Amino acid sequence: MLQAHNLGVTYPGQASPALQHVSLQLGEGDLVVALGPSGCGKSTLLGVLAGFIAPSEGSVSFDGQPVTAPGVERAVVFQHDALLPWLNVADNVAFGLKLQGVDKARRQQVVADTLQLVGLADVGRKYTWQLSGGMRQRVGIARAIASQSKILLMDEPFGALDAFTREQMQQLLLSVWQHAGRGIFLITHDIEEALFLATELVLMSPGPGRIVQRLRPGFSQRYRDGEDVRAIKSDPDFIALREQLLRSLFAQRQAEAA
Ligand SMILES: Nc1ncnc2c1ncn2[C@@H]1O[C@H](COP(=O)(O)OP(=O)(O)OP(=O)(O)O)[C@@H](O)[C@H]1O
Ligand SMILES: [Mg+2]
Repeated sequence: MLQAHNLGVTYPGQASPALQHVSLQLGEGDLVVALGPSGCGKSTLLGVLAGFIAPSEGSVSFDGQPVTAPGVERAVVFQHDALLPWLNVADNVAFGLKLQGVDKARRQQVVADTLQLVGLADVGRKYTWQLSGGMRQRVGIARAIASQSKILLMDEPFGALDAFTREQMQQLLLSVWQHAGRGIFLITHDIEEALFLATELVLMSPGPGRIVQRLRPGFSQRYRDGEDVRAIKSDPDFIALREQLLRSLFAQRQAEAA
């Protein structure tokens, strides 16, 4: 279990903390989604959880051990893809497994299965610079899924995808969440996506970056229990919560502008 306790981050030369008093827990089977406007500290929070950014206050631990650096148990999908341009798609996906000493036959099997899963079975031999932005993003997602990590940290993983592919990837993520016994932390700007996926939704606000609301929507559990995605997203309960979140975000904007 990943635990963040009272995190604060103040970047050098910044008047207001990028993050303040943020606590959260991420265990197996949790899908925590951070939603909030640009600049509210979402990527900063993910950077601290990943071990890339040292917090100015508070601490992060994984299974009781302090997190001070990146680790194989926490795989990251970056907001802007961080693929290796000198490797082809399959080798990018296999990269983490190779570092962990997984043998070649097993690697090839995992890579083939994962590329199939993200709809990229045909492009394994291509270089990442030969792909579209949305395809590159899916390679990053495949790399994280293929790794043997306990935790997936995903920064706007579906931001560059068209609406149809995006919905497919949301369902793919839920099947990964359902089967692999992992904990997932995901950042999005998209209210509908946040509501659909989250077991816990944390709404963030800037200046200082902080958590202003926590919800437990429960729609991903309904998907897991077999309900259709379109039926869930058009359910009156779903729509009411979506409107409530939208109003909160607009109210934040107006308060900032005032
Ligand atoms: N390396 C840095 N140095 C100084 N300030 C930074 C740095 N990285 C981020 N910030 C500032 O910290 C605040 C939070 O940034 P962060 O990237 O965490 O926001 P975000 O919620 O991920 O935004 P977006 O939705 O646009 O990706 C912003 O005001 C940003 O300008
Ligand atoms: Mg960001």
